[in-house]
Amino acid sequence: MTTRARQFQLSVDEIPDRWYNIIPDLPEPLPPPKDPDTGPSRVQNLPNLLMKTCLGQEMSAERWVPIPEGLRDLYAQAGRPRPLFRALSLEKALGTPARLYYKAEFYSPTGSHKVNTALAQAYYAREEGIERLTTETGAGQWGTALAYATALTGIKCTVYWVRAVHNWKKARLGFMRMLGAEVFASPSDRTEFGRKLHQQDPNHPGSLGIAISEGLEDAQGDPKASYSLGSVLNHVLMHQTIIGLETQKQFAKAGDYPDLMIACLGGGSNFGGFCLPFIGEVLTKGKKIKFLAAQSQSAPNLQGQYRYDFADHAEITPLLKMYTLGHTATMVPIKGDGLRYHGCSPILSLLRHHGIIDTVAYPADEKHVFERALVFMRTEGFLPAPESAYAICAAIDEALRCKETGEKKVIAFNISGHGFMDIEGYQQVLGFDGENRQATPAATFLGC
Ligand SMILES: Cc1ncc(COP(=O)(O)O)c(C=O)c1O
Repeated sequence: MTTRARQFQLSVDEIPDRWYNIIPDLPEPLPPPKDPDTGPSRVQNLPNLLMKTCLGQEMSAERWVPIPEGLRDLYAQAGRPRPLFRALSLEKALGTPARLYYKAEFYSPTGSHKVNTALAQAYYAREEGIERLTTETGAGQWGTALAYATALTGIKCTVYWVRAVHNWKKARLGFMRMLGAEVFASPSDRTEFGRKLHQQDPNHPGSLGIAISEGLEDAQGDPKASYSLGSVLNHVLMHQTIIGLETQKQFAKAGDYPDLMIACLGGGSNFGGFCLPFIGEVLTKGKKIKFLAAQSQSAPNLQGQYRYDFADHAEITPLLKMYTLGHTATMVPIKGDGLRYHGCSPILSLLRHHGIIDTVAYPADEKHVFERALVFMRTEGFLPAPESAYAICAAIDEALRCKETGEKKVIAFNISGHGFMDIEGYQQVLGFDGENRQATPAATFLGC
């Protein structure tokens, strides 16, 4: 009985054959990208930077967009569908009446959900005859995902990696290079914008906004290259809806339905991918679900201002209407660095503006978050990526609240990636020094 209640799986034929585009179902029209008052038109420059297919999807008003058969095959090769687990062991350790479910995006070949849009973008690049994709990466997960997708589709890949993270994730750097990508710490001296910052400060920690500017400048200077973005944009979130669409089918198999959905949020592709199909049901079918974005106080972009801002530091992109901390804001480096971005996707920002998404931002020292991740690891047995630990933390905090109130809430959370290459980060925050320690029961970390 327990076995059946623990894992909800789909067959390979049940991989969704279309993505969900929420744009026609939004409570008001999505404010379009626009140009600043001065300078060249960024909007007109977009076709020089992004792939034709992605740009078309960015503006699409179609509710359902077909996933090409060749791409579904790549999804199958990458191990989709991914299971939905019921966290029975965690529930027991917490003593909560809540029912907890988690989606296992950590079964990805490179370690995270980022593969879902990387494969789509590399597939379209090959179709359009593009020879090289340039990109940014923060945590390194997106860079690895694009390196993997370009390897499978025979395209070259150049990655600009936020220097603060590049310097400590040596194994992930090796991973990207083994997949055939060229990788540069950003700010780098490969681009005019990067050189300026690099010369001012050779140890500049970098930011996602700076790395995006470098990738854009590189693609702009090469007619055979295109820029590929790992989050924020409408088409990226749409590719990621494969996560939530699978989860809907799995909840139907489980005979259950979420009351609360939680995912971590940097630029928004993970949160959007998991939640948007369910948000669509709230908007069009009157379903009642709460949505919570787990963030860091280092970059609580959903608590910033809702206004037009640039998506990159050098102001190459058009202005996007989004919740932002300001495109040149400084944000302290954290181990969950994939959450350290100044702005949130325009779609999710609009939903937040309408009160459909709540947010919680955890302290930048990450102790509370990583201790919760250890509870999950010692009960469910999976090592989450530091970013995913934020969603786990929010789910455990909520489950413990249910313990006090007696609520039998159904809580669903997405584990966006695994942390096999992030152990050093966990150790630095939690103070493990590599010596043997007596196994500590999960309850110790809960203070029970
Ligand atoms: C494992 C993981 N989860 C979540 C995120 C958050 O990014 P986004 O909000 O764009 O999905 C990242 C970003 O790098 C990541 O690596």
